[in-house]
Amino acid sequence: MEAIVTRELTKRYRSNWGRLRAPSLDRLELRIGENEVFGFLGRNGAGKTTAIKILCSLLRPTQGDAFVFGANVRTRKARERIGYLPESPYFYEYLTPRETIDFYGQLHGLDAVSRAREWKKLAELLDLGGIGNQRIREFSKGMRQRLGFAVALVGNPEVLILDEPMSGLDPLGRRAFRELILRLRDEKKTLFFGSHVLADVEQICSRVGILVRGKLTSQGRLDELLTRQIRLVEVIVNRLDSSARAALATKASSARESEAGQHFYFDDLAAANDAVRIVHTNGAELVEFTPVRESLEDYFLRQQEGPP
Ligand SMILES: Nc1ncnc2c1ncn2[C@@H]1O[C@H](COP(=O)(O)OP(=O)(O)O)[C@@H](O)[C@H]1O
Ligand SMILES: [Mg+2]
Repeated sequence: MEAIVTRELTKRYRSNWGRLRAPSLDRLELRIGENEVFGFLGRNGAGKTTAIKILCSLLRPTQGDAFVFGANVRTRKARERIGYLPESPYFYEYLTPRETIDFYGQLHGLDAVSRAREWKKLAELLDLGGIGNQRIREFSKGMRQRLGFAVALVGNPEVLILDEPMSGLDPLGRRAFRELILRLRDEKKTLFFGSHVLADVEQICSRVGILVRGKLTSQGRLDELLTRQIRLVEVIVNRLDSSARAALATKASSARESEAGQHFYFDDLAAANDAVRIVHTNGAELVEFTPVRESLEDYFLRQQEGPP
């Protein structure tokens, strides 16, 4: 059974005068398998948080339904299986992380022994031990993100819904979160996370969906979405004489110069290979030969094009 399914999920907010606005989420159809790491990509304002809040039953859709393991997200049964990390987690500032985890443990109906065990496990997993008894009030963004992640994991939910989990983290923090997500995947969890940071998604997601102005423009496995065709080939050479330089320039689609040497860009491998032959017969030096393939970033930008 699929971990997350949405059917025609639509959200239209109301203006201050009570009128329905254009959809912030427009008939979203998602099917996310158990144990997937799904990246939900889109620019600011695309509708990611709106969809996430509906999945976590914090917001009612205008139309459509969402299910977690077959149960409507509005039911207690569905909610019990979800752990949620909001975009900016909210805490009781005068509590400590240890007290916060204990508080959420109580909400989950855990007894004192289980709550102590939960704290020990989560403190270790998110490196909270050293700040366990400090007031949250004094915490940096990174510490808050870590505590927010720990709160999402209380009660060991099978589905984790994370809204921009890496936002505001430094590079070390980002890497730690990526590793944590992969570790949770290895524990058979399903992870759904919204992000506008392509690099984070590219490295850990099995599948992505791209949201543009409330509409899902594509979803699929990364290797299926990206054309792995070579987009261009960059050839860098040194010690070219003027006739060889002219010969390369006529074959190349563009050229430039840097400290590394003369850069030539070719539309395909055949043209780039012709260029290399010219380089060798002229006694010049080949410095670099780099086929450039489409990255998720290129793909993402391609999806943003078109009429609004
Ligand atoms: N409470 C709200 N009332 C009215 N409009 C909202 C509200 N929340 C979000 N929106 C609008 O819905 C759209 C999607 O927002 P959001 O879901 O926060 O996108 P994202 O998380 O991708 O940045 C935006 O145009 C935003 O202005
Ligand atoms: Mg958001």
